[in-house]
Amino acid sequence: MASIRDVAKYASVSVATVSRVLNDKGYVGAETRKKVEAAIADLNYRPNEVARSLFKKQSKTIGLILPDIMNPFFPELARAIEDTASKLGYTVILCNSDEDEEKAQRYIDVLLQKYVDGIIISSNTILEKTIRELNIPVVCIDREISKEIPTIVVDNKKGARMATRFLKEKGRRKIAHIRGPMDIVNANERCEGYREVVSGEQWFKESYIVNGNYRMETATEVVLELLRQHPEIDGIFAANDTMAIGAIKAAYQHGLKVPEEISIIGFDGIALGKASIPELTTIEQPLYKLGQTAAKVLIKLIKGQDIEKTFYQFNVQLVERDST
Ligand code: RIB
Repeated sequence: MASIRDVAKYASVSVATVSRVLNDKGYVGAETRKKVEAAIADLNYRPNEVARSLFKKQSKTIGLILPDIMNPFFPELARAIEDTASKLGYTVILCNSDEDEEKAQRYIDVLLQKYVDGIIISSNTILEKTIRELNIPVVCIDREISKEIPTIVVDNKKGARMATRFLKEKGRRKIAHIRGPMDIVNANERCEGYREVVSGEQWFKESYIVNGNYRMETATEVVLELLRQHPEIDGIFAANDTMAIGAIKAAYQHGLKVPEEISIIGFDGIALGKASIPELTTIEQPLYKLGQTAAKVLIKLIKGQDIEKTFYQFNVQLVERDST
């Protein structure tokens, strides 16, 4: 039995275009419409009963595409989104993209086939153009794609400045930074915030900034190497909590006491930070509020209601525990 993807392939158009033709919603050129209708006829495509019943109605379902469900930050975010959506009468379909553009695109196609009413996305690989072509409401969370698309984030640069200044106030004078991936806006902003505080310092060296990928194991490896090369380092600002926990492990493996000989601070405020030894000092994002706002904004858009703004930037706060 032919699927919507088969029709799209046969007509050499996207699944979103086929969906627009089927729903008779949004712009489709006359030529393209003809091609899609011919493909539907040639392949004898019949949308299933569930989809048929959704054609003119809302499915009361939203898609949530997250980049890495192994990172505890994202399940915590998903929890808030699901709670809020559920209270407002919507079901959430969770998709894990593994930061892979093709996988994200496949999930988008599947969500369109399921006639979701809207999608919440955290991605640094999906293009603005792709989102615009979906023709259903989309809200970006945590990772900014374009200021034109409704987006929910925190003030990353300010948080990074707070973290780095805090290490200085603690008397640390050789502070390193484990940055997040180069292609993620929030990782770049956190790195800029760190630079703003340390670049004027005599002790600052470019090699105090090392690349991480927001994952714990990689952070342990890069921090071990950093400490071998720069034994003078006495403070680390990691761009997220999982990397900070990886850095604590590296410090212990290198024979350093945290916080006596080296202070470590993270960013996120995940619950796991309270379970590490020592407990992690961090820049806490209002995780629940972020998820709640994303769900509320998306559902307003689905209902055709006005939203106050497209760019929601929340404040962060420093939570001092034992790693500093
Ligand atoms: O821990 C995951 C990180 O990726 C977080 O800091 C979050 O802001 C994200 O982009």
